[in-house]
Parts: sequence; structure tokens; C-alpha cells
Amino acid sequence: MITQNSSAPLIAVVGATGIQGGSVIKTLTASSKPYRVRGFTRDATKPVSQDLIAKGVEMVTVSLVVDNVKEVFKAFEGANMAFLVTNFLEHMDAERETAEAKMMIDAAKVGGVERIVWSGLPHCTKLSAGKITHVGHYDSKAAASGYGRQSGIPFVDVQAGFYASNFFNPWIAPVKRADGTYAIPLPLSPTVPLPVIDMARDYGLYVLRALEAPVFPDGSEVHTGLDITMEEVAIQLSQVTGKRIIIEQITLDQYGKKMADSGAPVHVVVDMLDAWKWFEEFGYYGGEATSSVEGLAKHPLSFREFAKAEDWSKVFM
Ligand SMILES: NC(=O)c1ccc[n+]([C@@H]2O[C@H](COP(=O)([O-])OP(=O)(O)OC[C@H]3O[C@@H](n4cnc5c(N)ncnc54)[C@H](OP(=O)(O)O)[C@@H]3O)[C@@H](O)[C@H]2O)c1
Repeated sequence: MITQNSSAPLIAVVGATGIQGGSVIKTLTASSKPYRVRGFTRDATKPVSQDLIAKGVEMVTVSLVVDNVKEVFKAFEGANMAFLVTNFLEHMDAERETAEAKMMIDAAKVGGVERIVWSGLPHCTKLSAGKITHVGHYDSKAAASGYGRQSGIPFVDVQAGFYASNFFNPWIAPVKRADGTYAIPLPLSPTVPLPVIDMARDYGLYVLRALEAPVFPDGSEVHTGLDITMEEVAIQLSQVTGKRIIIEQITLDQYGKKMADSGAPVHVVVDMLDAWKWFEEFGYYGGEATSSVEGLAKHPLSFREFAKAEDWSKVFM
């Protein structure tokens, strides 16, 4: 629960107005333990910030960029724990992502934070022994994880699974075919599993478990999501929506063209194509298993439950 009581730990939440940070705040609110919550945003006047303020969150206006390092350090002062996330898609610059993450880790440390939970991803270049070298937005996060582990502060990397909401993303959204059925175009074998997670509802469960662990698992890595093949996703979506939906395996070239046609910069197309190759050849977490759900405040939603909870009317028209 959120409290203003100064005896409760103060959790600094980056990305408070977004999917991941928003999920963390939702879960802190639902916890039986009291927390003070400080959320960061560039705009505390927007409705989502105002809504958080109404719920008791202290919203701090700050831009978490290296040019603004003084303000960033000030923003973390006095926090007991911190959840950190970067927003690659907004600037699409892997080096900037690592630099901002390192700056936040430093700011948290100097500000007095005793636990950091960070949203990282695997280092594809290292784990593939140099075979998959272009997934910049994974390697950049992994570089920050390495830095965080050496910070001297207990540090848990709670890696984000494949967002279930990606099925609303135009790059992989289902396409209606002439016979009235739908195809989800993916450059992935339908039998390959991905760790799918309803990020907005469930990511915070994993973060809270890391924050509340009595013995903080220093340096550990958490792999969120529940494994499901894309074939099974199509079956469950068909059952939930009553439409006939299949996975259409397309080539990487076809996928890249689709991204480029939608205006994605070349380096992001290259990055995403290598990401799909990584999923196919090494698995989303590089062959490591998804984490146990034991000790989470509740069981994460299955893909079927996510599908039932969503409105697909604009996708399957
Ligand atoms: N899609 C997937 O399947 C997937 C899987 C794994 C990981 N990811 C990663 O997830 C991350 C995005 O997280 P998300 O989905 O939670 O993003 P999101 O919903 O788009 O939210 C982004 C958040 O970042 C904040 N933000 C951005 N720039 C900021 C700045 N300069 N200063 C302060 N705050 C800033 C925004 O705050 P304000 O706008 O309020 O300032 C907002 O709260 C990306 O790094 C992506 O690579 C995605």
C-alpha cells in the first residue's frame, strides 16, 4: 500500500507513467506492506501523473538524461530502493541507453539507495559467442547490468519478457486475409516458445518479489513471463475471439521491409531482425529458463487470460 508515513521504505520508480514502472507502482499499491513511492516523469501535469499523485505517489519532474546529471542525482536523494528502466524505443540509441542506465545506477548509489531492481536483457553478442551482434538494445541493457553488479549495491536484473501487448503492435499485428481468416506474420518458427507476459498487469509482481526478498539476491537475474509457442498463441487467440487465426512464418527480409516501410530507421530494423534470429537460434533468454512464479503476490496471467481481458475488436474487424 502507498503511505506517506516516513517509517515506510521510499521506492524511487523510473518510468512511473509507462508500462513497466506503472506496473511496479500498481503492485506496490496492492502490497500489504506500506511503501512511500517516488515516481519520475518529464511531465507531472499530464493525466497519468496526476492520477498517480492522487494515489499518493510523489511525482518528481526530471529528465533522466546525461545532460541533466545534477538534477538526476538530486532526484534519487533519500530513496531506499529503486526500480530502473530505460526507454530505448523513444531514442533508438543503444549507447545512450547504456549511458543513461549507468548514470541512474550512480545516482541511486550516491542518493543512498540500498537495493536496485533493474530492467535488463541478455547480452546477445556474448551469449551467442559473436554470432548475433546487432541486438543493440539488448546488449546495451546487458552492459548496464554488468555495471550495476559491480556497483556494490545489491542489484537484481528483472528481465522483461515478450510483451503480450506486442500483438497489438503494427509490426506483428494480425492481417486479415481474403478468406476472412487472420494471419500473424512472424519471422519465427511457430513452434519456438517465447516468455510472454502481460507487462502492465504482471511485471510488477516480479519486481516486488525482488524488492521484498528477505535476503536480497545480490546480482541475480530474473526471467519474467510464461513460455508459450506462437502456434499456441494463435490457437488461444482463435478460441477467445472466435476468429480463425494462424501464424504465418515470413522471412527476415519480409519482416525488415515491413518495418522499413513503416518508417523504422535502418539500424533499428537491423537490430530487430537480429533479435528475431536470437529468439529462433538461442531463445529469448539465451537458453536460460523462465523464472519460477513461486513467491509472487499472485500468479501472472496466462496468455489466454490476457487475451480474454483485452478488447480485440479493432484488431479482428
Ligand atoms: N516490447 C517488448 O516486448 C519489450 C521487451 C523487453 C524490454 N522492452 C524494453 O522496455 C523498455 C520500455 O519500457 P516501457 O514499455 O515501460 O516504456 P513506456 O511504456 O513507453 O514508458 C516509457 C517511460 O519512460 C519514461 N521516460 C522516457 N524518457 C525519459 C526521460 N528522458 N526522463 C524521464 N523519464 C523518461 C516515460 O516517462 P514520461 O514520458 O512521463 O516522462 C515513461 O514513463 C524499452 O527499453 C524496451 O527496449 C520491451
